[in-house]
Amino acid sequence: MSQKVLGIDVGGTGIKGAVVDISTGEFATEKIKYKTPKDSNPEAVLAVIKALISDFEWSDKPIAFGFPAIIKNGVAKSAANIHKDWINFDIITYLSQKLNVQNVTVVNDADAAGLAELTFGSAKGKKGTVLLLTLGTGIGSALMVDGQLVPNTEFGHLKWKKSITEHYASNRARKDKKLKWPEFGSELSEVLKHIELLLSPDCIIIGGGISKSFEEYGPLLDVKAEVIPAQLKNNAGIIGAAYYNHLNSK
Ligand code: BGC
Repeated sequence: MSQKVLGIDVGGTGIKGAVVDISTGEFATEKIKYKTPKDSNPEAVLAVIKALISDFEWSDKPIAFGFPAIIKNGVAKSAANIHKDWINFDIITYLSQKLNVQNVTVVNDADAAGLAELTFGSAKGKKGTVLLLTLGTGIGSALMVDGQLVPNTEFGHLKWKKSITEHYASNRARKDKKLKWPEFGSELSEVLKHIELLLSPDCIIIGGGISKSFEEYGPLLDVKAEVIPAQLKNNAGIIGAAYYNHLNSK
């Protein structure tokens, strides 16, 4: 019998969910997306999560969250693109109490995407050092070494020019600065060169919403490592959060 988990990817711009079939990594339902509330504090995000749970009629069954922050033992330790009230907030205890669900897990959103790509997507079977970067509202990173995830890396927060990398090479930066694809490609290429100097990855995977436009900027990325788009595209966060639940729930 296949196991199903509701995966919810909480992002700085959208909150999306789908029921995932763990045996295949495929969606067992359609994907539903809501806008992240402007004031994205725990109570406001909880209201959106409740709406998703009611859409999927998902009561007292496993729920898995991908969250855009450093996560240690179910507690958020940062909050770059989400309300600061989440810092040091015990996400698992709060959500399992408020939703009245026993089986709740939370993992960093990019780590979730990395896990999904490792298990079902473009990182499957890859040896050596693989770095997935999700380019969305921010830049998330998942570092994988010989198929093992090194959690909570934050390559979107590397110091860069006057700020940090995610303020120059995320999909949001591209839109805010109205960058044309060649301009964006050359900015991203510079960031990747710097990361390559630090990590010498064998493969870099570009994920997030922008992965579907890879042909626009991919050929401009001037690094030694193989650079490929994420196979599961923007669904990787949902799929990986659900898979993380499968691996880690008691
Ligand atoms: C956060 C990361 C997150 C990424 C993508 C960054 O600003 O610090 O934890 O993975 O955005 O959402």
